[in-house]
Amino acid sequence: MQTNPQAHDTKSLLQKISAPIFKILADTAQQTNTEIYVIGGFVRDIYLERPSKDIDVVVLGNGIAFAEKVGQKLKTNVAVFKNFGTAMLKHADLEVEFVGARKESYRADSRKPIVENGTLEDDQLRRDFTINALAISLNKDNCGDVVDPFNGLEDLENKLIRTPLDPVVTFSDDPLRMMRAIRFATQLDFKIDEAAIEAIKSQKERIKIVSKERISDELNKIILAKKPSIGFNYLFDTGLLELIFPQMAKLYGVDIVKGRAHKDNFYHTLQVLDNICETTDDLWLRWAAILHDIAKPVTKRFEEGHGWTFHGHEDKGARMVPQIFSQLKLPLNEKMKFVQKLVLLHLRPIVLAQDKITDSAVRRLLFEAGEDIEALMLLCNADVTTKNEYKIKKYRNNFELVKQKLKDVEERDQLRNWQPPISGNDIMQTFGLTAGKEVGLLKNAIREAILEGDIQNSYDEAFGFMLKKAEELGLKAVKQND
Ligand code: CTP
Repeated sequence: MQTNPQAHDTKSLLQKISAPIFKILADTAQQTNTEIYVIGGFVRDIYLERPSKDIDVVVLGNGIAFAEKVGQKLKTNVAVFKNFGTAMLKHADLEVEFVGARKESYRADSRKPIVENGTLEDDQLRRDFTINALAISLNKDNCGDVVDPFNGLEDLENKLIRTPLDPVVTFSDDPLRMMRAIRFATQLDFKIDEAAIEAIKSQKERIKIVSKERISDELNKIILAKKPSIGFNYLFDTGLLELIFPQMAKLYGVDIVKGRAHKDNFYHTLQVLDNICETTDDLWLRWAAILHDIAKPVTKRFEEGHGWTFHGHEDKGARMVPQIFSQLKLPLNEKMKFVQKLVLLHLRPIVLAQDKITDSAVRRLLFEAGEDIEALMLLCNADVTTKNEYKIKKYRNNFELVKQKLKDVEERDQLRNWQPPISGNDIMQTFGLTAGKEVGLLKNAIREAILEGDIQNSYDEAFGFMLKKAEELGLKAVKQND
């Protein structure tokens, strides 16, 4: 991302803050003789040319009282958060938050800061990063001037995440900032300052006092970035990943037995994740990429005469998904089931592509993947991480064949979200049965016969087949085919 040097001059900044709300804020400041500044993410995003709807205003004085004055002018409600000393109002599609300039200090035995009124610079100093500590004056004498005591503009130019204070203090005060540093570095493709990386390494254990939900929010933002591997590399190298998501950290490493090494599954997974990000913005499909090989460390074996194997890692991996989602406080709903399904099926199209592609194998895959067949194919394509051009070509060609075959079979048999033509109810009525083992047996047999291609996917063929099967089980029909 390029910063825009043009935006550095006052005229251009004034243009950026030309929305009517800024005039109202500036007028109120003048009338009440109060000094105010726009600060934080909104200012940073002007330089990064990212749209932003949240405006933070720092008030030298009482932030809540000032917000109420603005609210009266706009005839709009002001939400007051007394405990935090902040107030918020909405104007058009903008959210404006007011806070009094603060000077904070933390005691070692408590995360609760001692808050006192402070100067603008005190307030800037206690913010997380220099690029988030930039302020623009809304005061008559110097309206539009940027106040940048910690060289945030230079860090924007140099694409650097740096803390205004000693990073050990910044991260120890609020350990979520370690995740935020990595998240901003990933979203903006910035580097994290060396001292800040060292501070994360030394303060990483403090992440334990941050709620799981807030950690996962940051993690999801990393995953939704253009190239999430940037963030996961930082998480791994600083030791944070081991603490927040140990199953993923375990993917790292290569074992060598008798001169044979397997690939490093951590870097393979990151490559698959980056690959899939080129084809989808879907958070859950990206999660499926992260988790597709998650059970490789626990299923890893060295087999004599064969080499490294990871038998059953897809099945074991799918069974690990609920526990991982629960541990990370991710939703335990259909999104999780989708991820589980993809982890379970992720090898199937590859296996299909390697063998002679039979109709029955394609039908089975369509039946099991249902609606999610396209997502599964995207995951499989992303899973090809070999550097060998010949192999890449071969895989991709085979996938095209599988895709074509899927299309043909689907058009012919319409198996997506398919239900066999004879239901459990039909079976019970035909043989005068109540729910039980025989009904299940017949239902399965009919489904298998259709998927195998032994009979057509039609009511009549299925009915005839069912009668034959029932005879083998000693069942007699009490109702004819109607
Ligand atoms: N801030 C901070 N420490 C935090 C969170 C926020 O110092 N743990 C400060 C930063 O100055 C930040 C501002 O509060 O710019 C607003 O925070 P927030 O709205 O959470 O983030 P943004 O920086 O606006 O970025 P984003 O909206 O992408 O989260």
